[in-house]
Amino acid sequence: MNNQLLLCSKIMRFINLNSYNITKYIMTSEVIDVKDLSKINPVFGQLSFDNHEQIVFCNDKDTGLKAIIGIHNTVLGPALGGTRMWQYNNEWEALNDALRLSRGMTFKSAVAGLNLGGGKAVIIGDAKTQKTPELMKRFGEFVHSLSGKYITAEDIGMETSDMDLVRDVTPYVTGISESRGGAGNPSPITAYGVFVGMKAAAKYKYGSDVLEDKKVIVQGVGHVGESLVEHLTNEGAKVIITDINQARLEEVKAKYGAEIYTGENIYTLDADIYAPCALGATVNDTTINQLNVDIIAGAANNQLENEAVHGKILSEKGIVYAPDFVINAGGIINVYAELEGYGKTEIMRKTENIYNTTLEIIKNAETNNVTTHAASLAIAKSRIEARKKENQK
Ligand SMILES: NC(=O)c1ccc[n+]([C@@H]2O[C@H](COP(=O)([O-])OP(=O)(O)OC[C@H]3O[C@@H](n4cnc5c(N)ncnc54)[C@H](O)[C@@H]3O)[C@@H](O)[C@H]2O)c1
Repeated sequence: MNNQLLLCSKIMRFINLNSYNITKYIMTSEVIDVKDLSKINPVFGQLSFDNHEQIVFCNDKDTGLKAIIGIHNTVLGPALGGTRMWQYNNEWEALNDALRLSRGMTFKSAVAGLNLGGGKAVIIGDAKTQKTPELMKRFGEFVHSLSGKYITAEDIGMETSDMDLVRDVTPYVTGISESRGGAGNPSPITAYGVFVGMKAAAKYKYGSDVLEDKKVIVQGVGHVGESLVEHLTNEGAKVIITDINQARLEEVKAKYGAEIYTGENIYTLDADIYAPCALGATVNDTTINQLNVDIIAGAANNQLENEAVHGKILSEKGIVYAPDFVINAGGIINVYAELEGYGKTEIMRKTENIYNTTLEIIKNAETNNVTTHAASLAIAKSRIEARKKENQK
């Protein structure tokens, strides 16, 4: 094993190779000799590389900034997507995250009908200990150097105040304070979009979109999850909540009367709807056989560990999956308002339209015998292709 790198499907492992620790996202089951390592294309050959237009590596020794900006596609407009600051295990992981997340933004905005492309940035480091005003401003200068091709916003590890620092050095930022022209906290809008997307899935599955008495699992009661619980309890749904943060659970229970899940494995709970609002990849090889629900509709990004495989199994099991990037688009609709200058009424109108889009996608998927994920991607791609042709005229 010393001078061989064993590549197996979709796992990441550390391999001690002649005293170097090499970490690799793995794509196939081949075994590669060490002398062939140089042939592995470290960027364009990445598993998550999907014809991205541009990938920018940003480095600044003085502030300790190490960032990667992924610009996936700018056919519909500037690539807009948040900046995530995370303590990645290694650069491969950071690059993959930038590639995967920026691709997701392209399709999210395209399906939502926004004139935006897809981009995302990652800053390598611990947001709690390594984020400084100097580092944020330096990052902003790199964003500025792209002349508006990429527009940033908040993601994990970022606050509105960080975007305000970026705004000091570039106009190519959204998610800034309302006092500086920002559109405010996107989470309640995201939650509302998830709620209407869930109702659309219910309409398809049950013939009615009324969620009263439906048993709904909300996994993760953070910014979006809490707001979703509020909508659901207002409608009379029976909400079961789960979170790794006990204090949040108690708080949300006290506010809305939701029931805290106390069992061992939330995925085995018999319920009507599962709403993942914490992490991605919770629909995976293990959970897919445990899930005992009719509908999956939540806010988390990349809920299907494997889009093709798990999407297909869900549809075979008769579980209606409301694609994450379709129903969690409220946040991007909210920040887009900052660029276009529209107000809350238009934000709500666009977000409410997630209901129609979701229903159309689910029906399309049935008609064409494809998964809802594939049906959503097809809509996004056809919109991009049509614009590409128009642009070429
Ligand atoms: N905030 C937005 O507008 C927005 C927009 C689009 C997508 N999303 C996605 O929605 C999800 C929720 O976003 P948020 O802003 O509410 O995040 P958040 O950090 O406020 O909340 C996440 C919650 O999930 C909990 N959690 C973490 N790991 C968990 C686990 N293993 N099991 C159960 N709970 C767990 C956390 O304790 C926290 O309470 C994220 O995946 C995010 O990427 C958010």
